[in-house]
Amino acid sequence: MTDYNNKIKRIIISEAEINEKVKSLGEELSNEYKDKPLLFVSILNGGFTFLADVIRAVNIPCEIAFMRVKSYFGNTVSSGNVEIVMDIDRDISSYHIVILEDIIDTGRTLKQIVEILKNRNPLSLKVVTLLDKPDRRVVDFVPDKALFTIPDLFVIGYGMDFDEKFRNLPYIAEYNI
Ligand code: IMP
Ligand code: MG
Repeated sequence: MTDYNNKIKRIIISEAEINEKVKSLGEELSNEYKDKPLLFVSILNGGFTFLADVIRAVNIPCEIAFMRVKSYFGNTVSSGNVEIVMDIDRDISSYHIVILEDIIDTGRTLKQIVEILKNRNPLSLKVVTLLDKPDRRVVDFVPDKALFTIPDLFVIGYGMDFDEKFRNLPYIAEYNI
């Protein structure tokens, strides 16, 4: 337990700060997608907490779907491949899609997911990320919205893990490497 606690270096974003941003995101999305078929897509595992909070901050009809991918990226920074391990369970062509992602780091995963989903002709597609680490980007990818921009730190909590642990922290902390 001491070792576990020592790995939580410091809180960088508190529960209250997350709640405030999520609440205003919910209001924004409720206005933007009013009277539109809306499907939130969460990328597992990291995105599940964010999705759970965002949908409860939205006051319009919406649906949810999940997708899980595995990334295989070689040494060449610009090349890469993602394999869909679990796909969205329906045809997305009749929906406006909002992807809810935990964090964008190199940008490779999301860039490819966006390409894959755009090919399925959704009515529209937008990427909202809780966190963005633009200093780490190796491909050209800019999310439509990032709730917080952070420097090059490894973070845990609020869905994000180190070695599959710490996802349950209610705040976002820097991991003590
Ligand atoms: P990338 O943008 O393709 O490099 O990959 C982003 C994914 O890597 C995210 O969806 C996370 O699952 C994971 N990731 C990147 N940075 C962090 C971090 O600081 N903490 C935890 N997971 C991270
Ligand atoms: Mg992720």
